[in-house]
Amino acid sequence: MIRYDPLALENCYEYNYEPAPDEIAALLNVGASVTNIVVTKGAVPLFTRDVSVGGNQYTDALQKEFHLSADAAEAVKLGRANGDGVDESRRLPVLQSVTKLIVLEVQKTFDFFRASTNGQRIAHMYLSGGAAQTTGLKDTLQEEFGEVVDFLDPFRRIAYPDNGPLAEAIRRERPRLAVAVGLALRSFDDL
Ligand SMILES: Nc1ncnc2c1ncn2[C@@H]1O[C@H](COP(=O)(O)OP(=O)(O)OP(=O)(O)O)[C@@H](O)[C@H]1O
Ligand SMILES: [Mg+2]
Repeated sequence: MIRYDPLALENCYEYNYEPAPDEIAALLNVGASVTNIVVTKGAVPLFTRDVSVGGNQYTDALQKEFHLSADAAEAVKLGRANGDGVDESRRLPVLQSVTKLIVLEVQKTFDFFRASTNGQRIAHMYLSGGAAQTTGLKDTLQEEFGEVVDFLDPFRRIAYPDNGPLAEAIRRERPRLAVAVGLALRSFDDL
C-alpha cells in the first residue's frame, strides 16, 4: 500500500515554508491511530516512518484510568469535561504518560536519522494532525529535543476568507488540515 500522508505532509510544508535546500526539519503529524514522522532536507524527504500511536491512545488511557465511556474520555481529553470528576491535576499525568511514548518514538527516529547521516542536525520541528494540540505535547517535545517546535501552518501561503464558517473551521482545526492541504496542492507534472 502506498503511504500518501507523509508525501502530502512534505508537499504542504514545502509549499508553505519554501525551505532552503540544506535546511533540515522534522514533520510530525499526530493523527488518531498513526503518527507520521518525516525528516526532510529542503524539499526532499530523507526519511519517513509511521508509528502506531496518536490521539486514540490518549483517549484509551483516560478511559482506563478513570473508568469512562469512550465519549466521556474524549471530552476529558479535549478539556471539555473537567467538571465531571476528572480535574486537571489527575488528567495531566495520564496525558503525559502517552506523550512520553510519542517522545520515545521520535527519539528513536532521530537517533536512526543521525546515525545514518553522519550526525546532521534537525533544526526545526513542525507539528500537525488533530492530536498535535493535545495538552502538553508541544511543550514536552520542545523540552526533550531543544529544537524549535512550531505548529505547521498549512495556510501560511494560502489566502482564505477573513470571516464566516470556513475561516472559523480553519482557525480551529489548522494543524489538522496539513495532509488535506498537501493533497490539494498536488501538482500534475508527472501526468
Ligand atoms: N484540540 C484537540 N486536542 C487534542 N486532540 C485533538 C484535538 N482535536 C482533535 N484531536 C484528536 O486528533 C485525532 C484526529 O486527528 P486527525 O484528523 O489528524 O487524525 P486522522 O488523520 O483521522 O487519523 P489517522 O491518520 O491516525 O488515521 C483524534 O484522536 C482527536 O481526538
Ligand atoms: Mg492522518
